[in-house]
Amino acid sequence: MTDRYAVIGNPVAHSKSPVIHAAFARATHQDMEYGRIEAPRDAFAATVARFAAEGGRGMNVTVPFKLEAFALAKSKSARALAAGAVNTLKRDGDGWYGDNTDGAGVLRDIEANHGVALAGRDVLVLGAGGAARGMLLPLAAARPRTLAIANRTASRADALARDMAPHAKVEAIPLAALGARRFDVIINATSAGLTGDVALPWPATIFAPGAFAYDIVYADTPTLFLRFAKDAGVTRCADGLGMLIEQAAEGFALWRGVRPDTAPVFALLRPPRA
Ligand code: ATR
Repeated sequence: MTDRYAVIGNPVAHSKSPVIHAAFARATHQDMEYGRIEAPRDAFAATVARFAAEGGRGMNVTVPFKLEAFALAKSKSARALAAGAVNTLKRDGDGWYGDNTDGAGVLRDIEANHGVALAGRDVLVLGAGGAARGMLLPLAAARPRTLAIANRTASRADALARDMAPHAKVEAIPLAALGARRFDVIINATSAGLTGDVALPWPATIFAPGAFAYDIVYADTPTLFLRFAKDAGVTRCADGLGMLIEQAAEGFALWRGVRPDTAPVFALLRPPRA
């Protein structure tokens, strides 16, 4: 019988996950189908239960349900526990196993696809929300010299660094102190710029010579943060399309036991610009 998977979110119409997973399934000859489910905001658990009753084997969970997916999962991976959020569900007996593949996706995109090794480098994550939280443990595992976070609301960065302390050394830097620091890899994990151009609160001096700037957001044209980096003289940068594809591959491997090649899917979703 064909195994069923789906992405669940609200809204979910724009999600590229069905295209990505269909391409993975074709390439790895898996007998599966992958759909898209928009759950009412107050009915996440009921919608997931219905999908399970219909034979659903796994789900990708997107905004705004990652915390509810965490609460719903009966067992969880260490990285899901550290992130406090679940973006991938796998059917396990009569319950769900929860994982979080977002952080591994960022790390793999930066290191394997863009060739930027984090070991021994000074890494700064901008933001202290769920997206920042989810990537800190995988980033720490890559052994950077410094792993720092900076957030508009300093207290959230302090709290996140404290939460991470048992797992990883994360330095919370107040915005006012950022001007004195330079970083080799700067990752934007904020939602600044998602709803149009705003003034970004970080000094343009955070980028060390030869720095790599990464935005977890992706778009067909350069994002606000990547334009900010370019104006500051940064020449190496990438948006989060690769992260999206890599986190999907990580989930696919969890479900199917086979890791798909991501490069063809990247080319499919972003043909080389003329
Ligand atoms: P997510 O789960 O996507 O991380 P979130 O928890 O709402 O979403 O976090 C959004 C992040 O973007 C926060 O770090 C937020 O900063 P605050 O904690 O100060 O709110 C950051 N953010 C949003 N808009 C921003 C802006 N205009 N400038 C700087 N940071 C911004």
